Amino acid sequence: MRVLFVCLGNICRSPMAHGLFAHRVAERGLTDRLACDSAGTGGWHVGETPDPRTLATLRRHGISLSHRARQVVPEDFECFDLLLAMDGNNHETLLSRAPRSARDRVRRMLEPIGGGDVADPYYGGPDGFETNFAQLDRAVAAWIEELTR
Ligand code: 4NP
Repeated sequence: MRVLFVCLGNICRSPMAHGLFAHRVAERGLTDRLACDSAGTGGWHVGETPDPRTLATLRRHGISLSHRARQVVPEDFECFDLLLAMDGNNHETLLSRAPRSARDRVRRMLEPIGGGDVADPYYGGPDGFETNFAQLDRAVAAWIEELTR
């Protein structure tokens, strides 16, 4: 099972989800069953490392991540079993680009914990990143549960 985490820039929220998911999957010995990557709907930050605030938040929780931002490409809709959008905008954008056959694989990140958006933390303070982390950690646990059931 391959999961792609998607936000706008691929430097804040989706790399955080990516690092968290990979870490929790490894902790549970599930690396042979669950793989992941992350990407952005936009291309402004392609090639950049994650935002320092994302990396600092992950590090505070004992998680490291090596990633360069990339944009979602058409092949992603074939290669991934699940494409998880961080907010409603990302979800709409993905659906508008998805071939009909892939539409049901485009879902919302917070769906298994009641729905809603992982708020864009880019222009806010450091608290936003910790809030994102707490939400994402719960959602990641719920998705791992669902995908291994
Ligand atoms: P992300 O955050 O989508 O979580 O990676 C953002 C990063 C950059 C911008 C917006 C959101 N930006 O406008 O450059």
